Amino acid sequence: MSGSELSETVVSRTHTYQKVWQDAQRVDWQVRDLINPTKPLDFTKPFLPESLVRTDDIVFLNPAEKLALNHVRGCSYLHLFVLVEQFIIPTVLEQVKRLGFDDIFATQALLGFAEEEGKHIHLFQEFATAFEQGFGHPCDRLESTTTIANKILKHHPLSVLLLTLQFEWTTQNHYLESVRENDEDDLDPRFCDLLKHHWMEEAQHTKLDTLLIYDLAARLGSDEVDVVIAEHFQLVHLLHDALMEQVNLDLVNLERAVGRVFSASERQEILSVQQQAYRWAFLCAGLTHPNFIKVLSDLNPAGKVRVTELAKGWS
Ligand SMILES: [Fe+2]
Ligand SMILES: [Fe+2]
Repeated sequence: MSGSELSETVVSRTHTYQKVWQDAQRVDWQVRDLINPTKPLDFTKPFLPESLVRTDDIVFLNPAEKLALNHVRGCSYLHLFVLVEQFIIPTVLEQVKRLGFDDIFATQALLGFAEEEGKHIHLFQEFATAFEQGFGHPCDRLESTTTIANKILKHHPLSVLLLTLQFEWTTQNHYLESVRENDEDDLDPRFCDLLKHHWMEEAQHTKLDTLLIYDLAARLGSDEVDVVIAEHFQLVHLLHDALMEQVNLDLVNLERAVGRVFSASERQEILSVQQQAYRWAFLCAGLTHPNFIKVLSDLNPAGKVRVTELAKGWS
């Protein structure tokens, strides 16, 4: 799609910075309302929905071990989303600087966006502290999240915004799977609150990201857009490598928590199931979301084909 056609897409869009800013005012929650000494984590319940952790696929684990793996995954989830928020904040602030003050609603909406992502880092960190206090075993995690975030930030802002949009639609999937359409898993209410309230604000961010993406893309030639989409795929693979590293750490964390060393074949099965679970939970859920695919298709129809092929290879 050419730049002028993308501009028309912007005109025909229902979202405006003013409307998103006004809607965002209605969502108002504080971290202390979701996690505090009177609202502790319930370690007798799973933290994440089965569709994201797939512990039932590992048939040799007993129920206590499946629960421990679910909790290990919950811990990793918190730290991985801190990583995601770390590259979003500078990206959004860069767009604030680019736009200046010509549209004050855009400035306010984007400043609110960045502020909320800061709140989300605080949210995930508070949950991580509660986890460490209650789980009883240390959980190793990626040490290089800031390095990874900085690597991502070296890429074109449009490719980082595409990655951001992908993750924001991911959080919708996590909310639907964990809370709204889930009456089977009997999850810890605190984690349900986390996933729900995170999505409530991400829902506004998806609109802002979409506005920014069409705006930036309209300023580029089609060849440049193709390069940016290729960069987005590089970023997806960069995160994929980091996730696979976390899968290995999760296995060590699980063995430590359950107090046994698995056999070579058991370890291989855990790794294989968890690699698939991570790919779905953190990458494919967003990449295959219809609203993400719509934006990608508008930028370049070949992008949809590429996403579909990538997701198929990972499922
Ligand atoms: Fe967030
Ligand atoms: Fe967000």
